[in-house]
Amino acid sequence: NLPAHVKIVEVGPRDGLQNEKEIVPTSTKVQLIKMLVSSGLTVVEATSFVSPKWVPQLADAKDVMDAIRNIQGARFPVLTPNLKGFEAAVSAGANEVAIFASASESFSKSNINCSIEDSLARFRDVVSAAREISLPVRGYVSCVVGCPVEGIVPPSKVAYVAKQLFDMGCSEISLGDTIGVGTPGTVIPMLENVMNVVPIDNLAVHFHDTYGQALSNILTSLQVSSPRFPSVHSKLHFLLLDLSVGWVELVLDQVKVILVLSLGYFRFGSIQVQTVEFLLLNQMGISTVDSSVSGLGGCPYAKGASGNVATEDVVYMLNGLGIETNVDLEKLLLAGDFICKHLRRPPSSKTAVALSSK
Ligand code: HMG
Ligand code: MG
Repeated sequence: NLPAHVKIVEVGPRDGLQNEKEIVPTSTKVQLIKMLVSSGLTVVEATSFVSPKWVPQLADAKDVMDAIRNIQGARFPVLTPNLKGFEAAVSAGANEVAIFASASESFSKSNINCSIEDSLARFRDVVSAAREISLPVRGYVSCVVGCPVEGIVPPSKVAYVAKQLFDMGCSEISLGDTIGVGTPGTVIPMLENVMNVVPIDNLAVHFHDTYGQALSNILTSLQVSSPRFPSVHSKLHFLLLDLSVGWVELVLDQVKVILVLSLGYFRFGSIQVQTVEFLLLNQMGISTVDSSVSGLGGCPYAKGASGNVATEDVVYMLNGLGIETNVDLEKLLLAGDFICKHLRRPPSSKTAVALSSK
């Protein structure tokens, strides 16, 4: 019960580079974006329209957008923390933006210098401006399992912020384990809470790999099912003896489910009883995953946050599961190699290390 296709949102040029101390030249960022697109990635978060005093590495956002304007085959969302950023992004040709809230008060303050409620008010302005020109908006929730200052973040708080972003009009909500402390043990209850208020098709997951848990957390997210429609797999297994004559996908109370019509029979001695059964199957899993080429990343305002999960490792795992991504791993490895050479460090995805030692 895994999704047949996973959409990867490549965040390397933004989340991956934002924390790099040495300024990466615009031409290198643009070349990286081109290589990522040519590997088959269809969504590449290109940069941020944030204060250059806060994130100097991305001060060239406008120049990056100018240079990628004509690249075909991918969408290039950019981060916009307020109307000022939104307006600059639109003038630079952005056709998709992302706003970023936090489930932790302390992180909201250190990342965007305001409370969660104040940030939501700002984001409402951004979303309504975006709606006027039909621009899709992605909404991030940071610190979905833990905060560097507050420690454990309650799932109900994450669900609250996610619902606010969804209700104001975000088309996709990305749930970020900003400091990479989550395990399937904490990620599942968090996802279950969020899935109660935001449809699964509108959710994405964004894991950092601080404790080496990111791939486990992604696999868990692909398999998670809504607590409102408990899974009936064991029954389905039994019914494999029967004949499933049809199925239909439907959305019930914001949860996508599959209704299976099955015909069968059982016997009591010489009596044969025909059965007609409808099974409600929970459509499994989240099918949008954020990752960063070569595991680059870390948030300048989240002490202890290490890199994002590496896109190469995500693609390797999804290939192994038979899940389509349309990403060419060889070409992706070249993109990882390119940026790592520039940053003068060895490629850090496990896949690149394994293949280079062959
Ligand atoms: P502030 O200092 O409170 O803002 O910062 P302000 O409104 O008082 O303005 C201060 C100065 O910034 C003024 O300029 C404004 O014009 C300027 P000055 O008069 O001093 O010359 N300014 C801007 N300049 C460019 N673009 C803008 C902009 N807005 C104001 N959009 C602000 C508030 C939100 C601007 C600041 O805190 C900021 O830029 N924060 C961004 C931090 C950031 O990018 N963090 C990393 C991204 S989030 C993340 O990584 C998590 C995520 O990956 C998910 C996960 O991992 O969980 C998404
Ligand atoms: Mg991040």
